[in-house]
Amino acid sequence: MARVESIEQDSWQASFSQSRQEGATRVLEEGGLLFLPHLAFGVGKTQKRLLSLDSVSLKAKNVSFDVRNGRVSGTSLQGPDAVALQDMLERFARQSLALVRSLLPHYAPSLEQARTSFRPVEASGRVSSWRKDDRRLHVDAFPSSPNQGKRLLRVFSNINPDGKDRVWHLGEAFEAVARRFLPLVPRPLPGFPRLLYALGITKSLRSEYDHIMLRIHDCMKADEKYQAAAVSTQLRLPPDSTWVVCTDCVSHAAVSGQFMMEQTFLLPVAGMLDPDRSPLRVLERMTGRTLT
Ligand code: SIN
Ligand code: FE
Repeated sequence: MARVESIEQDSWQASFSQSRQEGATRVLEEGGLLFLPHLAFGVGKTQKRLLSLDSVSLKAKNVSFDVRNGRVSGTSLQGPDAVALQDMLERFARQSLALVRSLLPHYAPSLEQARTSFRPVEASGRVSSWRKDDRRLHVDAFPSSPNQGKRLLRVFSNINPDGKDRVWHLGEAFEAVARRFLPLVPRPLPGFPRLLYALGITKSLRSEYDHIMLRIHDCMKADEKYQAAAVSTQLRLPPDSTWVVCTDCVSHAAVSGQFMMEQTFLLPVAGMLDPDRSPLRVLERMTGRTLT
């Protein structure tokens, strides 16, 4: 069962002892979750208004912000509300970067900050296809954003204003998931990644690693029997708490909850304390091939 390590800190700028930093890094690399029950992402008066679906007119299920180009997408808000929304996303991007740098300094030199998101939609009611249904256990893999083996490190904060927990289930270890689903994954068609890229369907070339991770993600979600029978633990993540987890190796399902912030970081495998624990290396050992 995934280990959940609590860290009693209430500041985004905290300093951590070296043993705490190393311990936290190992927990993540071993497929655990860091839970900071007192680390709240404060939402001020102006931004509180955004915590209603009416004010955030959505085009997508999430509003996202990209620090790399300063763009917000997924909302049609205008004027002061749009400014408040962008401020909130930018602040979460800054604070989660500060947290990751101070808690996981080993990663700092090679870490890339990717998208920041605000998730205002109730997780239990998101109507979607089975493939997009995050209430089913899965490991994260994105069809349009191949990452060529880089780790997906994510910081989440529950900002629900009504005392509502975000409820997750955590499933079996990555090795067990891969042992079960890798045999069902066919080899990619030669030339297909180039075609996807040329058509603009992927933002970069989909490596064999990305192909396998996507197929594992899909096979997990599509397998009703697996979903019903897989051993999992429930985790209640209360408002004003924060958690950090590598969602590419931790099998997870978001069962319920509303209003959350999320920041994604990409970490090259070489930046890990123990690269052998990456999903890339696990899959390469299992297939006997280089996958990127
Ligand atoms: C997910 O990454 O599966 C969704 C997490 C969440 O919305 O709580
Ligand atoms: Fe996910």
